[in-house]
Amino acid sequence: MVALTEKVQTRLTMQTLEIAPDTIALRSLDWDRDRFDIEFALQNGTTYNSFLIQSEKVALIDTSHEKFRQLYFDALTGLIDPTTIDYLVVSHTEPDHSGLIADLLQRAPQITIVGAKVAIQFLEDLVHQPFERQQVKNGDRLDLGNGHVLEFVSAPNLHWPDTILTYDHKTQTLFTCDVFGMHYCDDYTYDENLSLLEPDYKLYYDCLMGPNARSVLSALKRMNELPPIATIATGHGPLLQHHVTELVDRYRRWSQAQAKAETMVAIFYLPEYGESDRLAEAIAQGIQKTDVVAELVDLRSIDAHEVRELMGMATGIVIGMPSQSGNDAAHTQALLNTVLAAAHSKQTFGLFESGGGDDEPVYPLRNKLQEAGAREAFAPILIKEAPSEATYQLCSEAGTDLGQWLTRDRSIKQMKSLDADLDKALGRISGGLYIITAKKGEATSAMLASWVSQASMEPLGITIAVAKDRAIESLMHVGDRFVLNVLEEGNYQPLMKHFLKRFPPGADRFAGIRTHAASNGCPILAEALAYLECEVASRMETPDHWIVYSTVDAGRVSNANSLTAVHHRKVGNHY
Ligand SMILES: Cc1cc2nc3c(=O)[nH]c(=O)nc-3n(C[C@H](O)[C@H](O)[C@H](O)COP(=O)(O)O)c2cc1C
Repeated sequence: MVALTEKVQTRLTMQTLEIAPDTIALRSLDWDRDRFDIEFALQNGTTYNSFLIQSEKVALIDTSHEKFRQLYFDALTGLIDPTTIDYLVVSHTEPDHSGLIADLLQRAPQITIVGAKVAIQFLEDLVHQPFERQQVKNGDRLDLGNGHVLEFVSAPNLHWPDTILTYDHKTQTLFTCDVFGMHYCDDYTYDENLSLLEPDYKLYYDCLMGPNARSVLSALKRMNELPPIATIATGHGPLLQHHVTELVDRYRRWSQAQAKAETMVAIFYLPEYGESDRLAEAIAQGIQKTDVVAELVDLRSIDAHEVRELMGMATGIVIGMPSQSGNDAAHTQALLNTVLAAAHSKQTFGLFESGGGDDEPVYPLRNKLQEAGAREAFAPILIKEAPSEATYQLCSEAGTDLGQWLTRDRSIKQMKSLDADLDKALGRISGGLYIITAKKGEATSAMLASWVSQASMEPLGITIAVAKDRAIESLMHVGDRFVLNVLEEGNYQPLMKHFLKRFPPGADRFAGIRTHAASNGCPILAEALAYLECEVASRMETPDHWIVYSTVDAGRVSNANSLTAVHHRKVGNHY
């Protein structure tokens, strides 16, 4: 094990080490990746893992993110002359693993690219130069000599349409790229400490794999045909060796639960610009906050029969409107017609369009869905410029609105199900009134809260119970900062009324409210009696809330003679 390195000093580093006979991992360590991708919310950085198998033939499995160009090639050329590499296995073509393929081919044009049919097609557009290729499908094998026989497992939609897994029969290592990965960066190479990794493993599954649960189950079935797996060499985060069975089983359990769910939203989209997939994922994440299953459906890799089947199960539909000029415009239009023909009045829908011009093709589609009697959950989202954090926030909140609409009957039933005496007794628990305000990059949010309590003295800490489907929940992950604004007795009504409004997705919740910035960057409400600057330290899950434990770094009272507004309740199943 390598010594732990100071995060501040080591933004981008490389780690190379032997993980099995003839097999070296080249791990690009990105200590504090801060892009607003939902699956990075836990802020533990990430790694991009590439692998070199040196036998009679030499194979490289995946490359790295382009930001590691120099570091990656320094490490690779330190190990091998690239012109002696025979194969590059492309597990999938997402830029964080394929970003250096063009550079590699320039240095080593003799390399044969091995990948799924869709991956090879995609690479033709990406690398702009001729290359040797070997298209593989499930069960195909590639013999590197000395027992290193690579067997490929097809895993479409995990989380790209072209994903393959690669099993080395000699070392019993399964190279999985995104699958079983997590965004977690430290010097440990393996998964020794499961409890440290669990939150990242689950979040990554929820964001990238959960919306493809059926495909995950199919891939797991294919994986079952393989001999035992000693190591899972992932493309992100630690390699799995200590908890392989347990972690694979979690994918199975989570995906089975998703596939069985009663309420499902099908999100049809076309990953045209590498943008609409991120938007679709943000909408899916917003939907899943409400305990509704979202299923991402890439229009490039589905046929009309499957569309009809999904439409028969879906209670909600989201369509990411593709631009009309794409290569497969006729095929896509035919599938959209199938969606429209199957839409009915019990369904709820939402539309988004990215990279579009001024023709706004969502509107004719909207008319047709409304004619079929379907109900619109949120106004069409039209993205004309490169998406920002605020765009993803808008998509996530739109998804939550859709999910909440679909679960409204369930929520009302739950509220009514409490025994009357118990309900009244529970209602005697009271709290203060607070507004939580948060800012993360460009994204801001606020919420009225009363389930707030001090929870520790050294360090000073508080807990807040935040419902899982709250908009602000996305800005309250470990490491995030916020301000707890304390409302004043006799003077809380205007703020309470303002923040209890039903805000449309992406709305600026601070419009018309006087604020100034706290030292942690979050808004302090000028009318608050006191404020506390907080940082989320950990979260505990209950069935419907996150108990967010946060340390408190600074605070101030504006009027020493005033008291906190107190909230007395009548019943326990309302706030
Ligand atoms: C008096 C009162 C106290 C509340 N306290 C909490 C709370 O502690 N936690 C919570 O998740 N929601 C609480 N809520 C609900 C949210 O303030 C409110 O419904 C929410 O801002 C709307 O959801 P959204 O922000 O996701 O759009 C409370 C509501 C009221 C009326």
